[in-house]
Parts: sequence; C-alpha cells; structure tokens
Amino acid sequence: MSTHIGASPGQVAPTVLFPGDPLRAKWIAETFLDDATCYSEVRGMYGYTGTWNGTPVSVQGSGMGQPSMAIYANELFKDYDVASIIRVGSCGALTEKVAIRDVVIASGACTDSAKNTHRFGGYDYAPVADFGLLRAAYDAASEMPEVTTHVGLIFSSDSFYSPRPELMKAQVDHGVLAVEMEASALYTLAAQYGRRALAICTVSDHIVTGEETTSQEREQTFAAMIEIALRAALT
Ligand code: ADE
Repeated sequence: MSTHIGASPGQVAPTVLFPGDPLRAKWIAETFLDDATCYSEVRGMYGYTGTWNGTPVSVQGSGMGQPSMAIYANELFKDYDVASIIRVGSCGALTEKVAIRDVVIASGACTDSAKNTHRFGGYDYAPVADFGLLRAAYDAASEMPEVTTHVGLIFSSDSFYSPRPELMKAQVDHGVLAVEMEASALYTLAAQYGRRALAICTVSDHIVTGEETTSQEREQTFAAMIEIALRAALT
C-alpha cells in the first residue's frame, strides 16, 4: 500500500473519480459502478474499484482543500500509475451568469494558495484541465438538456470562510465563475506527472444571491455530474 491509500498496485483503476467527501465516494461506487469493492478505509478516506459499462473505474475520496487532495493525487499518480483523475465536487457561484445547480467544468483554476508560488519560485503558473477530458465532458454534458453547463475559470481557495471576500471581485471581473478548494493543485500535479485531470463541480451555493441547494437537490445534480464524468473518462 502507499502511505495513505490501503490498496495494492493493480487494485486502483487507471481512471479515478475524485470527490472530496469519502461518503460520496461510497455513494458513487454503490450507485454507478458494478461489482464495486472497497480497497481502502485508511483514515475513513474510502476508495472503491468497480466497472462502468465493463470498464474498470475507481472512486477515491480526496478530503477538503488542496493539502489533503494533493496527498491522495500524488499517491494515485506515483504509486498506482493512475492515468486520469476527474474531480467531482461542489462549488460556490461567484457570478449571476451561473445559477444554483448548474455544472461548471473548470478549464483552468486560479488560487490564493502559496503552493505554486513555492513550486515555481515566484513565477506565475496557469494550471489547466486536460483538453481531451474537457472536450469529452462538454460533449457529454451537451447531450443532457436537463443540465446547464459552463466551461471556464474557477478559483481554488485555501479558505472556505475567506477572511477577505472582497478580493474575489477582481477575479470575477477577469472571468472566474465559481469557487472551490482543490482544482488548482490537482491540475498542477497532473502536469507534473504527465497525466490527465479535470474538475467538474455542481453549484451547491450562490455567493451573490445567497441561495443554497437542499441535500436532495445536491444528490440529483451530483448524479448528473457523475454521469458526465464517467462518459468523459471513458470516451
Ligand atoms: N465548495 C462549495 N461551495 C464552496 C464555497 N462557497 N467556497 C469554497 N468551496 C466551496
């Protein structure tokens, strides 16, 4: 096993769906995959492998925030030779162009994290999605008229409770659609390892209007997003 994932090499599929919440990982595996088995319960951060339309797929919880997510993404790429990671999460809408329950496919991710400042010695870096996964996800979403999908920039924040929310205005004025907490580091790690990554998020709360989804709505919109992710991953 790796340091934080209790699987033998070969137990994790080349394609991994990557929700923040480990109980979502369990729900995705039980709802969408055939013959799903749990390969890791270390720290309660569940990982499962099953098949979708006959193709092996794993689902691994990442935890919340870039430091937690990066532990699991590093080990998936380095120790389990994972080819593609698709984050399936939630986000907060930062603009009225995006509505509650919409799906946002992140073409790139800005951040307030110092991770890449350290990594690149102060030079700026633009973490972007894998284009093939992005295009496949967009095509899959286009075939689902019940879902409104946006492709654009998101902001990966180190703070759910931001001490300086006013700083978001400049980001929004430069096209940022929504805020979450993981994509920037995920895209950077995929680039480091030469692998593929994509972040797809459903809008769970609206920073401008103050709306929030109910848990039942979150489940329904989450299901549509998983369908998009699986179709994209296995195209
Ligand atoms: N994920 C879902 N909503 C969020 C928000 N408002 N801020 C950061 N991450 C989120």
